[in-house]
Amino acid sequence: MEENKFDLLKISKKLKKYLDEERLWHTLGVMHTAASLAMVYDVNVERAQVAGLLHDCAKCIPTKKKIKLCAENDIPVTKFEKDHPFLLHAKLGAWVARNKYNIKDTEILESIVWHTTGKEDMTDFEKIIYIADYIEPARYKAPRLAEIRKLAFEDLDLCMYEILKDTLFYLDENPDDIDQATIRAYDYYKDVITKKENTK
Ligand SMILES: [Fe+2]
Ligand SMILES: [Fe+2]
Repeated sequence: MEENKFDLLKISKKLKKYLDEERLWHTLGVMHTAASLAMVYDVNVERAQVAGLLHDCAKCIPTKKKIKLCAENDIPVTKFEKDHPFLLHAKLGAWVARNKYNIKDTEILESIVWHTTGKEDMTDFEKIIYIADYIEPARYKAPRLAEIRKLAFEDLDLCMYEILKDTLFYLDENPDDIDQATIRAYDYYKDVITKKENTK
């Protein structure tokens, strides 16, 4: 049995000061969902909880302050991110997790960076955080949630593909809002799924 390395209670108490009630509730949902997925896929449960807890730690920082913090700390901001500043909470979140919550675990930090857009070739850990964010119990807006929730516990790659597909389909109404990383992630997982199908 591995010893617990993180003080989850301390992290959640601190988060309470920086997140509004709704965001905190979502965050706890992501933590529990990430832990459940970690149990299914043999990933360290405690690290998944930490990433779930901290994935949105920068979400409630006002936009102007987000941009300012990025500038002050040499976090590169693209034109696209400037136009869609909600995206910044991901990379800024990783920075906050490292510098304000003392998280040095690279995979936890990377899972925070990629939880909004996804990317190609994610680790199971990163997929778990991305998926947990999408399916946690307080979510209700996404289409086909029941189906996608079930899939999450059966096949991570197929679940990634279905979420990315729905995300692009939904964003497609505003093509200017589509992030390139999401498109690349979709193409990547489409390929993974096709190859898996062909070897069956
Ligand atoms: Fe987020
Ligand atoms: Fe989230």
